[in-house]
Amino acid sequence: MQDIMANRRALLRFLASSPLLAAAGGIPLALADEALLASAAEALDVFEFETMARKLVPPAHWGYLASGVDGETTLRANSSDYARWHLKPRRFVDVSKMDLGMTLFGTRYKSPVLMCPIGSQRAFHPEGELPVARAARTRDQLMMVSTVMSMPIESIIEMRGAPVWMQLYTTNRFEATLALVKRAQAAGVPAIAVTVDLPAGRNTVTASRLRRDDTRTCSSCHVVGPTGNPTGGLATKPMFAGIDTKGLGQTSPSLTWDFIKRLKDITTMKVLIKGIEAREDAERAVQEGADGIVVSNHGGRALESGAGTIASLPEVVKGVAGRVPVLIDGGVRRGTDVYKALALGARAVGIGRPYIWGLASFGQPGVERVLDIVNNELRLAMVGCGARNIAEISPASLIDTQHA
Ligand SMILES: Cc1cc2nc3c(=O)[nH]c(=O)nc-3n(C[C@H](O)[C@H](O)[C@H](O)COP(=O)(O)O)c2cc1C
Repeated sequence: MQDIMANRRALLRFLASSPLLAAAGGIPLALADEALLASAAEALDVFEFETMARKLVPPAHWGYLASGVDGETTLRANSSDYARWHLKPRRFVDVSKMDLGMTLFGTRYKSPVLMCPIGSQRAFHPEGELPVARAARTRDQLMMVSTVMSMPIESIIEMRGAPVWMQLYTTNRFEATLALVKRAQAAGVPAIAVTVDLPAGRNTVTASRLRRDDTRTCSSCHVVGPTGNPTGGLATKPMFAGIDTKGLGQTSPSLTWDFIKRLKDITTMKVLIKGIEAREDAERAVQEGADGIVVSNHGGRALESGAGTIASLPEVVKGVAGRVPVLIDGGVRRGTDVYKALALGARAVGIGRPYIWGLASFGQPGVERVLDIVNNELRLAMVGCGARNIAEISPASLIDTQHA
């Protein structure tokens, strides 16, 4: 495949230098769209991996990755809401020594960028989460795995060479949840994030539409239902080995706040709540004993017509009032987005789809390059705003265009 990509790239370069084509206005759009990177190192921003991954990933899997819900306004708001804030540059600050390091629950990471839990990563790479773990290792970056990861958590931790965090789907049966929690704790996971934004289904239109367009036979890899579409199949996920999955739901529509106390009673891991967007819920989460909060709307895959997470961050930060760390994810595509989230009070900032674009394009080097790009963009934002370390990033370096 590398050869085909290199040849295609060479052809495009040749066409680009053609005076005839230049006279005609350059490479036709349809051809330019064919551009594939020859190596991960060539990528200039994360979107180049998106273009490439889209060509490499089969339609149904691409739909799973790209989908929001309904008309995808929340999905779009996640990224576009960052435009509300501009960066305010500061001059004559000695920025010759920069430190992007971030410490969370006593562990130091190279930067505040974390890789969000994304389920079923074998849909994007034959080795699933393993190349991501290797990239997290070489880049010393925080990685959170999904309950529905496609490789065993113990193998992922071995590749990472250090603990990873795990996201927890609550299920609808506590003894199953208990088994998941026990296994994660035994594997050395120091923190779990309970996902609370998907209590009772969702309408992933893009995913369903692209699945319709995919002519491959799903049954060669998936357990398929009577319609021929893949079923949820928790039984096929390594975390559910040894758990009775008959009638087991990934989440429960009857879940209430007492779940957090129940969970804290059975584990010594830190317990974060992932999917908080309202100040009232943030206050309650701290009262109920949460050790941290992740402001998230599941990457625009839960509630339609919601706000971008960056718009919700300030009220959550207010509700928490510094008592526990607040993290955020959703729509983060640039280092400047990371900078803005940190300035508004986040301790760490998650990226989801972008590292999967890197994974699907080049495996481990793709993920590494995505991390390098975002970290370098963050560093440049810090340089421009005169913040030499994460602690020096403050709301004073933001211009709020809605209250200018
Ligand atoms: C394909 C896909 C699968 C996901 N799987 C999970 C999951 O298993 N558990 C979870 O809590 N969040 C899951 N998420 C949400 C991410 O953890 C994260 O909140 C979101 O992707 C961040 O937004 P971004 O993709 O725009 O960066 C998933 C997101 C995507 C795109």
